[in-house]
Amino acid sequence: MFQAWRTALFGIYGFRNFTRQSFVEHSKKYKEEDMLIPMEGKNCVVTGANSGIGYATAAGLASRGANVHLVCRNRERGEAALAKIKSSTGNPNVFLEICDVSSMSDIKSFVSRVSSRGEPVHVLVNNAGILNNERVVTPEGLEASFAVNGVGTFALTELMLPLLKKAAPDARVITISSGGMYSAPLYNDFQFDERNFDGSRQYAQDKRLQVALTEWWSEVHGKDGVGFYSMHPGWADTPGVATSLPGFRQRLGDNLRTSEEGADTVVWLCLQPKDKLTSGGFYFDRAEAPKHLHLAATAGSHAHISTLTRRLLSLSTISS
Ligand SMILES: NC(=O)c1ccc[n+]([C@@H]2O[C@H](COP(=O)([O-])OP(=O)(O)OC[C@H]3O[C@@H](n4cnc5c(N)ncnc54)[C@H](OP(=O)(O)O)[C@@H]3O)[C@@H](O)[C@H]2O)c1
Repeated sequence: MFQAWRTALFGIYGFRNFTRQSFVEHSKKYKEEDMLIPMEGKNCVVTGANSGIGYATAAGLASRGANVHLVCRNRERGEAALAKIKSSTGNPNVFLEICDVSSMSDIKSFVSRVSSRGEPVHVLVNNAGILNNERVVTPEGLEASFAVNGVGTFALTELMLPLLKKAAPDARVITISSGGMYSAPLYNDFQFDERNFDGSRQYAQDKRLQVALTEWWSEVHGKDGVGFYSMHPGWADTPGVATSLPGFRQRLGDNLRTSEEGADTVVWLCLQPKDKLTSGGFYFDRAEAPKHLHLAATAGSHAHISTLTRRLLSLSTISS
């Protein structure tokens, strides 16, 4: 019953704020100069960069001169994105890295390859994300959407921290959460194995976890010169939405944002001087946004994050 109330609150808030129409409205206040900051010499890693918001983010960073590493699970789709970004931006410093971020073993070998180059990482964009309508388990025994959105985000960020610290004080981690997290408290049934599986609820819980983790990382590592930001791109028409939420996509039609509009605040967060931003904060349409909706009773749940990170550490197997 309370869950239905939270979902209704989220729906009303979303239709008021997350559509294309609201992007057009909010963008009237945007400052052109915010996006004119060059990124030459900055090493940026973007996960899930072959389509949708991740592709638009990678292209946006490459067009500003950054060295961009596209992290993709599928070589063919990754190579197509690489070729398209190089030719549309004229930037030769765009590279493809193959890594399935639902696999802890893939993440470990990817980070070990990047670490062996000895270069700092200025920007990590945790964009790869999925909403599975059926419960699927990875070969490592993890529920597949939690593997990508939850423990994969945790493991990759934790393992990349030494490289990010090398770029301090200019290092930042941007995690693409979702407004869907407004409908969920921080939950401890990570793998959704104690109840009947509901893909949208699992997704909302994963996305809540990303927001709470961002807060926690900021508290634990903030003094090391790394900034942590979570964000919501709004509702954008991407291959992911077409596959996972076809009914929603049909209902919204032209009122869905483009991938570039969805990526706008991601690129903005990559570019802004860090003293303009709040580490641990949640952003939407180039501004800090609330992490909880009034009357949704989700705020208290964040108090458990330290305990949950111990479980994430164990599930990710990164400490062994
Ligand atoms: N679109 C929206 O309205 C919306 C709203 C809120 C939040 N978001 C968030 O925005 C992010 C991007 O989503 P999108 O809408 O742009 O969807 P998308 O077009 O499906 O893009 C998702 C990207 O993640 C990649 N990916 C998925 N699983 C992966 C894995 N195991 N390893 C490596 N890469 C993987 C996909 O690669 P493949 O091509 O190989 O599948 C794809 O490149 C997600 O975190 C999503 O939750 C989107």
